[in-house]
Amino acid sequence: MKQAIICVDDEDIILEALKDQLGSFFDHQYLIETSTTAEEALEIYDELKENGYNVPVVISDYLMPAMRGDELLIKVHEKNPKTLKILLTGHANIEGITNAINKANLYRYIPKPWDKDDLILTVREAVRSFLQEEEIKEKNAELQAINENLEKLVDERTAALEEANATKDKFFSIIAHDMKDHFGGLLGYTEMLSSDFERFGNEEKQTMVDTISDLAQQLYKLLHNLLEWANIQTGSRTFNPTNFPLNAFILDEITLLNKFAEAKEQTLLFKQGGEMMVFGDESMLSSVLRNVVTNAFKFTYPKGVIEIAVTQSGKFAVITVEDNGVGISQDNLKRLFKVNESVKTYGTNQESGTGLGLILCKEFIEKNGGTISLVSEVNSGTTVTFTIPLFGQ
Ligand SMILES: Nc1ncnc2c1ncn2[C@@H]1O[C@H](COP(=O)(O)OP(=O)(O)OP(=O)(O)O)[C@@H](O)[C@H]1O
Ligand SMILES: [Mg+2]
Repeated sequence: MKQAIICVDDEDIILEALKDQLGSFFDHQYLIETSTTAEEALEIYDELKENGYNVPVVISDYLMPAMRGDELLIKVHEKNPKTLKILLTGHANIEGITNAINKANLYRYIPKPWDKDDLILTVREAVRSFLQEEEIKEKNAELQAINENLEKLVDERTAALEEANATKDKFFSIIAHDMKDHFGGLLGYTEMLSSDFERFGNEEKQTMVDTISDLAQQLYKLLHNLLEWANIQTGSRTFNPTNFPLNAFILDEITLLNKFAEAKEQTLLFKQGGEMMVFGDESMLSSVLRNVVTNAFKFTYPKGVIEIAVTQSGKFAVITVEDNGVGISQDNLKRLFKVNESVKTYGTNQESGTGLGLILCKEFIEKNGGTISLVSEVNSGTTVTFTIPLFGQ
């Protein structure tokens, strides 16, 4: 900021001496303004402010015809208490000095005639002290801004953490509830078998053991999915991206998936895309493909058709899995992929699931830098689309 010093004295000769002495010392850095009356000095002060000047120092004579020096300095003090005020006095006027000290926070008074070095030293110190104050003020403002930013950041973080926590709480309560149900069934059947084993015929026993086996498998799957989810949340699930050819990867998976297709005499088709090398964690991506394709089997009637297709879009390979099955209601569609909501329906052959498959798919796909989405129409079918980054992109 530009700086100016104002000198006020009713005698031109004194003003010239002041301007001359201060000018030779401060010339380049500071504008030295002079005035023969206090009234004009106040106008100069205002003009300087309007023109973007700082006024670190005002030096004023004490005895002047209209407004006295101490009165002027009091007015300057009212305009800006930070401006340092120096009084020049011919007579040791105690009353004026006391007044200026008390009401204008007088910085110094210099008796006339003054010593040039003393004057320069005093003004230099005054300017320095003013600039230091300004600097502190600026730094304080900066600190306050940083502080406010930090507070805002902490608030945002806290809100995000609270939400994440609430989501996880909900997730655990859904899982715990499911587990309790399954364990309830398991305990009921095992207790019956253990206390009344002889009472049941072979056929009944077989049904019970089958149910127990189903429940145990369900429980195992729940635990497995929960662990997968927990591992990816805590970052302890290893992430090993490599580059691999997409068509060959899908063909491999299809060999295994075809076995599931047999159960309901469904057909699994694969529309290969051009040869593409993708970059990602194969084990995560095979979990994704398996879950999406087994969903398609599960929610499509026997003899239905499921098609996997591969295309390229920009820097990504796009994989779609389309079925002509039961579809998903709009209400359930909105709730899919959400940890704190549970969407779980039985398949066309009453197959059960954990309702966690797609949530894990989303975590895995996002970890790999891709996206996953789903469109569906009830009674017409569902298409799941996910992307994997191409290698080297
Ligand atoms: N292809 C699909 N057709 C119709 N509904 C689907 C399809 N895929 C998913 N859904 C619906 O979304 C729900 C959630 O799917 P998700 O894969 O997360 O769980 P799940 O298949 O029920 O359980 P799990 O994956 O543990 O076997 C399903 O229960 C079903 O209601
Ligand atoms: Mg599933």
